Amino acid sequence: MATVKYSLEEFVNDMEGLLKEQPDQHRIFDRGSSYLEKLIANPAAIPEEYLVPVGQGARGNHGSYALYQGESGLLITSVVWGPGDHASPHDHGTWGMIGVMGNHLTETRFRRVDDRTVDGYARLEKDRSVEFTSGEITLLIPEVDEIHQMDNFTDRPTVEIHVYGDNLRGLNRSRYDLESGKITPFATQKYDNC
Ligand SMILES: [Fe+2]
Repeated sequence: MATVKYSLEEFVNDMEGLLKEQPDQHRIFDRGSSYLEKLIANPAAIPEEYLVPVGQGARGNHGSYALYQGESGLLITSVVWGPGDHASPHDHGTWGMIGVMGNHLTETRFRRVDDRTVDGYARLEKDRSVEFTSGEITLLIPEVDEIHQMDNFTDRPTVEIHVYGDNLRGLNRSRYDLESGKITPFATQKYDNC
């Protein structure tokens, strides 16, 4: 008998069920990443049009698509990074889980090392750079470990499934300039900034 593959709908149901229990952060990541592992093991769970770069506009080499937005705040997106695609260091304003589905993506994490007394300024130090491969998950822990830069150094697109605890739209977030230390606040208009 063929094994029935885990669907996006099952993932949504499992995640919403988990969040209803009002779990602490540890449990969200523990259970949630076990669900996300099953989802990213089955690329067929995601409609094909959400697995390709948009192909036009200022960032045609990139794609970002909302797969689900729940009243609980749960947001699930697919993010496609074309070859050479890059996102400069930024935070998120909510917890997150990112699962790589096909190919590789390099994530560089930074820690903030200034005393946070100067408005609009942050000094970041590189913490680690990891090349994540298909089936692997990386976690975003607000305030603790979440400022990251993303790069696709390969020659073909990489798809990721992003899961957030809050709808990114309208959240107050920040981009960080590594050279000058300047913090640029932004509020996502769409789910278009990972
Ligand atoms: Fe991000």
